[in-house]
Amino acid sequence: MSLVAGGVAAPWYMRTTSAATTTSLVAKWGSVRLAPVGFEPTSVWGYDGGVPGPEVRVRQGDKVSRRFINQLSEPSTVHWHGVRLKNAMDGVPGLTQEPVLPGEEFLYDFSVRDAGTYWYHSHDRSWEQMARGLYGALIVEEQEGAPDVDFDEVLLIDDWRLTETAKIAEGFDNLHDWAHAGRIGNWVTVNGDGRWRKTVSRNSRLRLRLVNAANARIFALRAPGLEGWVVALDGMPLDAPEPLNGLVLAPAQRADLIVDVTAEDGAEAALVSQDGKSAYQIGTFSVDGEARRERLAAPAALPANPVAELGDLTSARRADLLMEGGAMGSMRGAMLGGRMMGIQEMARAGKIWAFNGMADMPSEPLMATDRGETVRIAMNNDTAWPHAMHLHGHHFRQVGSDGSLGPLRDTLLMDRGETAEIAFVADNPGRWLLHCHMLEHAAGGMMTWISVS
Ligand code: C2O
Ligand code: CU
Ligand code: CU
Repeated sequence: MSLVAGGVAAPWYMRTTSAATTTSLVAKWGSVRLAPVGFEPTSVWGYDGGVPGPEVRVRQGDKVSRRFINQLSEPSTVHWHGVRLKNAMDGVPGLTQEPVLPGEEFLYDFSVRDAGTYWYHSHDRSWEQMARGLYGALIVEEQEGAPDVDFDEVLLIDDWRLTETAKIAEGFDNLHDWAHAGRIGNWVTVNGDGRWRKTVSRNSRLRLRLVNAANARIFALRAPGLEGWVVALDGMPLDAPEPLNGLVLAPAQRADLIVDVTAEDGAEAALVSQDGKSAYQIGTFSVDGEARRERLAAPAALPANPVAELGDLTSARRADLLMEGGAMGSMRGAMLGGRMMGIQEMARAGKIWAFNGMADMPSEPLMATDRGETVRIAMNNDTAWPHAMHLHGHHFRQVGSDGSLGPLRDTLLMDRGETAEIAFVADNPGRWLLHCHMLEHAAGGMMTWISVS
């Protein structure tokens, strides 16, 4: 498992140090049993060498403090997805911090004001680093009003592309993937386990915290043998629990479910994803015994997080975001590296998507706002592919054409050809990315940013 073995002395940064005052988080090589018995363990890049990385669990209002140590052979950073933290801790190389070079470290230190289900992941060459395993859960427990459940379980769902010998397939820079749906894999794991299973009892109540950690795969979930409610999306509590009736989870999205095991004693409940006509089981709950005779009463809503209410939308500052490119799209070219390029030349430079006619990180923000302003972004997916649009540092609401407001989210799935408008209070100062969380699409050009001062 140790790649520094074999006669070469470990460099200083790979030696273990003691007396650390802050917990460390080390990006390094590791070995994980992703595939079933009979296959070799898979070499991964993981936090502390594992997949998922160690669970970071704190109380609302507490501090997260992790000394990130990069033991990879390339630069990396850690992004705390969905957390409304201070900009300097957001982990975006070139925008909020310098990349952390091999052998170097960076102290991530911030407090969390929102309870809920979040996660952390690499934000440097993330299409490869995350496909190799660099992610973990960040759980912020409610200050008070946590629901009464028998189990609180985090399920990080990932989609891997493995070879026949269970190695992670190379070819991360495959432009065909980039121009289509992204790197879709062939092996799905929950918490790094391709055969995830848990024993529960009938009528027990579970809080399931689902995280889609895949590069690009969208999961359309059903839960036969479980009945219950969605109580939060992307960490943020819904105003009222909504009956669980299937759930679409795009890359980076989370959902908190409160479910009761309704399958009979001795039977199984499951988490199933429906992919077109075929369905595959992601996780299994074996039912053993009975927790209580009857189901519990419906849960109350989780306590709301302190997110500012939207101001007047009619007078709000507005930006348009045209999403273009990809296979079967109509884009002819875009600005890249300061000049106009045709699509062929762009493809040779590894860019095949554009926001507002620009195919890489623009030097100017999509929008520059004053702190506390309510802003709107009207997005138009003029491509043949779905996209998972993610905003850093803020949660937004979708504004319907009739003015209705959707739940607070940090990642919005937009179907091909769909338009969607989002609104949020830009109250977190700094420079914040807005990008597609299908990581190959972001790498291929779907990236911009806003500035809040
Ligand atoms: Cu989860 Cu910009 O990322
Ligand atoms: Cu993020
Ligand atoms: Cu996309």
